[in-house]
Amino acid sequence: MNTHKIAVIAGDGIGPEVIREGIKVLEEVATLDGGFRFAFTHFPWGCEYYKQTGKMMADDGIETLKNFDAIFLGAVGAPGVPDHISLWDLLLVIRKSFDQYINLRPVKLLNGAPTPLKDISAEDVDMVFVRENTEGEYAGSGSWLFKGKPNEVVIQDGVFSRKGCERVIRYAYELAKSQNKSLTSISKANALNYSMVFWDQIFEEVGKEYPEVKTHSYLVDAASMFMIKDPKRFEVVVTSNLFGDILTDLGAAIAGGMGLAAGANLNPKREFPSMFEPIHGSAPDIAGCGKANPLATVWSASQMLDFFGYTAWGKRLIKCIEMVLTEKKVLTPDLGGTATTEEVGNEIIRKLHTI
Ligand code: NAD
Ligand code: IPM
Ligand code: MN
Repeated sequence: MNTHKIAVIAGDGIGPEVIREGIKVLEEVATLDGGFRFAFTHFPWGCEYYKQTGKMMADDGIETLKNFDAIFLGAVGAPGVPDHISLWDLLLVIRKSFDQYINLRPVKLLNGAPTPLKDISAEDVDMVFVRENTEGEYAGSGSWLFKGKPNEVVIQDGVFSRKGCERVIRYAYELAKSQNKSLTSISKANALNYSMVFWDQIFEEVGKEYPEVKTHSYLVDAASMFMIKDPKRFEVVVTSNLFGDILTDLGAAIAGGMGLAAGANLNPKREFPSMFEPIHGSAPDIAGCGKANPLATVWSASQMLDFFGYTAWGKRLIKCIEMVLTEKKVLTPDLGGTATTEEVGNEIIRKLHTI
């Protein structure tokens, strides 16, 4: 039987609470299918580990993770550990080391999910963000000069390589072409006169190979306005690392909230494991209360199933989420319910048995 080896980094705060449900659901899918199984290996990395060892992951962590087919990650970050340390030494180092240059984030309003937008129906919010995930504003290049002195200076470079821009933009064109959708590039070339001028140029250059794909190009400020005023303009969207980060939280807000927002960090060439995670953080404000919504994690599990080629199961899981949302009987407080994280996970499993 085909066994998929999954490294689990549940992480901090609500991470372990939502990942537990994600694993339960994946195991149920494998049992129902009967043709494949998952072997989960848990790693205790995160902020607790840091408090004990001074490190966010083991020294050979990246080497160890290379042996897995995928990584399932909860969330990272806890009060008492500076965020730039906890995130750079765990989440970001994995994205970069494994060249997970595609961050695929659906912004899709499922039937039954709440939206704060007026006069908007589910079909109007159906986007997928292709976020650059290895460089750009997150390159980690810069310096801190004259620290603590009156002439202190900090420099944070945006690094946009031709290879890095071309590959993410090409991936987005391919996705748009395969789904017969339009492609929107979001940038900011009026102010970022090197990086984003270059981005726009590459968007046009690569576009010559895809004459059949209808394109739009928006400045990020206008794009954020249109996402609220007229979300149906957007189908496949490609953008830089930082803009993609910000716009997908905005996307979460219009598509049911952080508890429903999923993401896949893909190494499309499959040279290294890809990583699947909800896009929300460790939510210290609700951690340990059983209030965390596990549906974003279940959605990211569905992305994992898609990536392994079990697309029918991927679709079924989304259908199960939709059934739970429309019935409105078993929902966590962020969606107006009183159910616990675990009860929502159990409900998804019940739905899996009905479809
Ligand atoms: P957050 O996403 O953790 O929380 C923002 C708000 O959304 C909070 O009110 C929280 O309660 C709510 N929320 C988030 N996920 C939810 C869920 N599944 N169900 C119900 N409500 C949910 O963002 P933040 O507060 O800015 O960050 C908290 C910590 O998480 C920080 O340390 C930050 O650096 C880290 N972070 C980690 C990741 C990651 O690991 N991928 C992503 C974002 C933030
Ligand atoms: C996300 C998160 C991360 C990011 C942080 C925690 C570094 O916000 O996955 O959206 O900015 O990529
Ligand atoms: Mn984010």
